[in-house]
Amino acid sequence: MCGIVGFVGKKQASPILIEGLSKLEYRGYDSAGVAIIDKDHINVVKCKGRLRNLENKLSEHPLKGIVGIGHTRWATHGKPSDINAHPHNSQDGTISVVHNGIIENYVQLREWLTSKGYKFVSETDTEVIPQLIEYFYNGDIVEAVMKAISRIKGSYAIGVICSKEPGKLVAVRKDSPLIVGLGKNEYYIASDIPAVLNHTRDIYLLNDNEFVVITEDGVKLLTEDKKEIKRDVYHVTWSANAAEKGGFEHFMMKEIHEQPKAIKDTMTSRIMMDKPVTLDDIKITKEQIENIDKIYIVACGTAYHAGIVGKYVIEKLVRMPVEVDIASEFRYRNPIVNEKTLMIIISQSGETADTLAALREAKKQGARVIAITNVVGSSVSREADDVLYTWAGPEIAVASTKAYVTQLIAIYIIALFFAQHKKTLSAEKIEALKKEMLSLPVKAEKVLGNKEIVQEFAEKTYKKEDVFFLGRGLDYAVALEGSLKLKEISYIHSEAYAGGELKHGPIALIEDGTVVIAGATQEKLVEKMVSNIKEVTTRGAKVLAFAFEGDKDIEKAADSVILLPKTLDIFAPVLAVIPLQLLAYYISIKKGCDVDKPRNLAKSVTVE
Ligand code: G6P
Repeated sequence: MCGIVGFVGKKQASPILIEGLSKLEYRGYDSAGVAIIDKDHINVVKCKGRLRNLENKLSEHPLKGIVGIGHTRWATHGKPSDINAHPHNSQDGTISVVHNGIIENYVQLREWLTSKGYKFVSETDTEVIPQLIEYFYNGDIVEAVMKAISRIKGSYAIGVICSKEPGKLVAVRKDSPLIVGLGKNEYYIASDIPAVLNHTRDIYLLNDNEFVVITEDGVKLLTEDKKEIKRDVYHVTWSANAAEKGGFEHFMMKEIHEQPKAIKDTMTSRIMMDKPVTLDDIKITKEQIENIDKIYIVACGTAYHAGIVGKYVIEKLVRMPVEVDIASEFRYRNPIVNEKTLMIIISQSGETADTLAALREAKKQGARVIAITNVVGSSVSREADDVLYTWAGPEIAVASTKAYVTQLIAIYIIALFFAQHKKTLSAEKIEALKKEMLSLPVKAEKVLGNKEIVQEFAEKTYKKEDVFFLGRGLDYAVALEGSLKLKEISYIHSEAYAGGELKHGPIALIEDGTVVIAGATQEKLVEKMVSNIKEVTTRGAKVLAFAFEGDKDIEKAADSVILLPKTLDIFAPVLAVIPLQLLAYYISIKKGCDVDKPRNLAKSVTVE
């Protein structure tokens, strides 16, 4: 986690670094800090808490200088505090470092440096980096950074400045994201593109173990053996506005409203009537598809919930066995993977450490990997054999919304692509499914136009301590996601259960006034859900159900019903999740929580 930025140019660095950090706060917000070179001296201002605390501190102690680095932290090693905040300086104060990642051998390095007389002030793993660089420094900061890096194990994106070489910024990455922004006579480093978009759309995407040396004359990319690397400039096509709130009070609400467009964009040029499903970016051949005997879908968090939908959909349309696994479980349980295995990795950021590790594990064992990701150039996209990008645009709110629905769309696309190749569906059936898919953006828009009932229910629910979500089939997958959204941003304890499991334990928790959210979109399972709803209302529960328009039985059984425009059962999750996102949002607002930056969470978890 954490976000890093850096600047070299002719303007004052401080406001540019702060602005960049404001775009990266989604990555962590336990503390923030900047280090800026003023002539031959590095000044650091840093403090615990949100970026605004740092801004207040900087207004009292402004920093001068045109070369600097900045950091916003999600604490791992060392509690959130002023001392543990980045940047961290070397003992003599000549070197300052910001770091995103984890240094796995920091204990040994710290002991070794201590034996050489170095004193540490923080509890962080990061502090060994500036100390090591100072130890190796002999008049060339690039050389010293390279030597230090050769001693470090772990994951990192690092920005380094040195007061003895005041015009220079050095950076390097391994397993943590880092990009370089190329402005006019000014240059930037950042953990993510939005941090530089107000200044430039031209960027370099870096690979692991590549070093960046920036001076006012330009940017050099170097290999570990100091060979210069030629890199094409990647031109970002989405605008800076895409990463702004655009009139909404919160990013989450803006992103919920962007879903119809995101769904449409993700289908563009891939799903067209009377044309085969086209996946230009996927190179897997018909023969390779034939060879697959098992699919693993592996992901974390919301992406994992999209994976559960994937299991139902692929098994139904392609008739292939699919196992869904949480990335952190997959990698440690010696899964049965071979050349006949296809792994589908789902990751919005493409940087989640556990997901990336699962991808590597599967590749090592011979599996072919397709990645579904939202971030071009992310680690997952570079390491997978094939990539299907979701075109959700930047997702800033920590709670994922539009990325999830586009992940669902990507899964439908892959399922149709496979069904087409394996001929598990007739051409007519595929056309009918495509037609319905293409109508989803309009239907999603309709769901967004029907917020009152959700708001009313939020009003009745926000003081509750527990909420239960129930569903069968794909509604169970949606229930899991609805429950996660609620707990993430409103801190209400919530659980999701498969409707059939109710009688095996959860029903013991139902009492007068317990809130239950029940999904009933799956035609063959509606009756069963009606029974489940009755079982809980009899015991005093208040039920909000979601079902398709015209479902009278559910209307009678539940206290309130969100009616969704009719679609095919397999596409129901795309529409059904929207009211659940809205419910979590409204409850969070009523409770006065920080919707976009919920406590203890971060958007991209680049540590284990
Ligand atoms: C974090 C985020 C979640 C996200 C999960 C997986 O926990 O808070 O919103 O679903 O990581 O992230 P990824 O980028 O791999 O989809």
